[in-house]
Amino acid sequence: MREATMTRSKKAMAPAPRAAGALLTIALPRGRILDEALPLFKRAGLDLGAAEKARAGRKLIIPIEELGLRVLIVRDTDVPAYVEHGAADLGIAGRDVLEEQDRDLYEPLDLGIGRCRMVVAEPEGRPVDESAQVHLRYATKFPEITRRHLQARGTVAEIIKLYGSIEIAPLVGLADRIVDLVSSGETLRQHHLREVETIFPVSARLCVGRVAAKLRGDRIDDVISRLRRVI
Ligand code: PRP
Repeated sequence: MREATMTRSKKAMAPAPRAAGALLTIALPRGRILDEALPLFKRAGLDLGAAEKARAGRKLIIPIEELGLRVLIVRDTDVPAYVEHGAADLGIAGRDVLEEQDRDLYEPLDLGIGRCRMVVAEPEGRPVDESAQVHLRYATKFPEITRRHLQARGTVAEIIKLYGSIEIAPLVGLADRIVDLVSSGETLRQHHLREVETIFPVSARLCVGRVAAKLRGDRIDDVISRLRRVI
């Protein structure tokens, strides 16, 4: 179950986050989202520069005592698991990852970073005729999103799960169409694929575990309020 908002603390905002109690643990995905998240956190008064330095030195668990925070650097697709099971109190994950896994998390804030879109695409020279073709195949890293999309459209098709380089699947006869993320559109262009439709726009969101929201609500609300002011 997903919810758009969490209750917000009414207490006045402290000038700097307090390091009271155990460190608040935040799971961050390595890659583009992390690159965009760090300046955002800095503007919010949460300088995670230490995480950047430690990451360069291959450290994946980074305590930042002065902020009362601990950063975990994980794979983007693993963020929801850490948060749902309480190993991290909160995390940042793309809407693509959250929708695909559909876990039991709060999503109190869209950070507006890591923007791209989830699309259906097909070869420019070999458009699918949905009324005539009987055995359609869709290749994707996102089988659940694809399944729900096809179901909503009443389309029956086989879904082939891949782990990357999705764009080549229709070019070598593995699939008729793909469901994938598009950012600049350059990969589609390079492979002569055209966008058939956008399933949804994607950006990164803050996600919070249910237990953490209950037990550490004030600290999490402080982080949310700070970020909300700068996005
Ligand atoms: C992503 C996505 C597309 C590409 C889109 O792949 O799956 O292939 O980026 O970006 P563009 O529209 O700017 O060209 P990623 O780089 O994560 O690699 P992957 O193919 O291994 O998943």
